[in-house]
Amino acid sequence: MPPKRTTWHYSLFASCFRASTRRRTTRPEKSAVRRLSFSDVSSPEDLSLSLMGCDLLAFTLGELEMATNGFSDANFLGEGGFGPVYKGVVDEKVRVGLEARPVAVKLLDLDGAQGHKEWLAEVIFLGQLKHPHLVKLIGYCYKHEHRLLVYEFMAKGCLENHLFKKIASLAWSTRLKIALGAAKGLEFLHQTEQPVIYRDFKASNILLDSDYNAKLSDFGLAKDGPKGDKSHVSTRVMGTEGYAAPEYIMTGHLTAKSDVYSFGVVLLELLTGRRSVDTSRPSREQNLVDWARPYITDARKIARIIDPTLGDQYSMTGALKAAAIANQCLSQNAKSRPQMSAVVEALEPLLGLNDEAATFVYDVGENVETKENGEFKHGRRRKLRRRALVPKGLKRK
Ligand SMILES: Nc1ncnc2c1ncn2[C@@H]1O[C@H](COP(=O)(O)OP(=O)(O)OP(=O)(O)O)[C@@H](O)[C@H]1O
Ligand SMILES: [Mg+2]
Repeated sequence: MPPKRTTWHYSLFASCFRASTRRRTTRPEKSAVRRLSFSDVSSPEDLSLSLMGCDLLAFTLGELEMATNGFSDANFLGEGGFGPVYKGVVDEKVRVGLEARPVAVKLLDLDGAQGHKEWLAEVIFLGQLKHPHLVKLIGYCYKHEHRLLVYEFMAKGCLENHLFKKIASLAWSTRLKIALGAAKGLEFLHQTEQPVIYRDFKASNILLDSDYNAKLSDFGLAKDGPKGDKSHVSTRVMGTEGYAAPEYIMTGHLTAKSDVYSFGVVLLELLTGRRSVDTSRPSREQNLVDWARPYITDARKIARIIDPTLGDQYSMTGALKAAAIANQCLSQNAKSRPQMSAVVEALEPLLGLNDEAATFVYDVGENVETKENGEFKHGRRRKLRRRALVPKGLKRK
């Protein structure tokens, strides 16, 4: 069973973590227009007026029924906490003048876990934030009790289905491409003029287009970042079990570094092919971070946790470096986690690496040991011959 989105109650005894205030030099240009926020909208009329100029289409329910063939079972794509999602097409038949394009239509289930507030957050954030690694919101329907969202259709669905429902093993290079794309999406959110904390970074919210370009979806829990000299946003603890940062769960203090922690969890999922929480495993393996931590802090052990469906088809250098990045993102101390811009910079060069795991040789004195299918075959491991492969910052034991 996939982990479910949960609301935690939090206690106030834990310490406060201050968000880093360092900024990257290549910050986007300042725009004169302030981004719209929640308090600016109270009615459907407000919404369409306020979002004028955002290229969002306000659909009627009838138009979206036509687009999805009456929300037919054949068009059903899946269902999350918000409600069901259907494939559709918006074209001339739906509304004169519309250019034909495939879409995904999400319906708010009024009895579901999420409500109008999350729906509005999605429209307000995604209506205004545009980036190649954020899913494009095309339009919405806001009429009486109906709340629908219309997105660009993402042909390969969500990362969760590829990683855990084993359609086929995702290639190593594809995993890195997805990690990098998702990292760029988060980097954009954290560095936009009015920074945004995404708060729900997880494999099911990373959507993939036909070329496996990753785009972030589901902004229902997103929050404006801290303003002025504030170090964090205080909020009710919301998120998905297994992905949320420990200090956020303990204190309700939200910072961009909470997203960085969640990114570390997803990076581990990409490396291991295991879910962040998997109750079907033995108890000490159920929490991915707890299980993987001893392996990602020891370069000699990393091969043992790499997704076995990859066989030898991955770069050992890349795996070592990716594990080191995950380890830094998963630091217990939020301040020690890197900014997403640093994560992007560290991931980028890994895409070009093409050494294979099977040719990664350990020096065991007279004998030479080769890793095959994730197992070391002979001899006692002493030390890595290729010391340079161990990334900076990764502790050697
Ligand atoms: N734009 C889209 N294009 C293609 N498929 C989509 C799109 N948006 C969502 N889906 C599919 O619809 C399903 C439900 O997605 P949804 O985001 O509602 O729930 P979830 O992410 O699984 O759970 P949660 O509510 O916890 O976020 C997923 O399988 C996803 O792949
Ligand atoms: Mg989702």
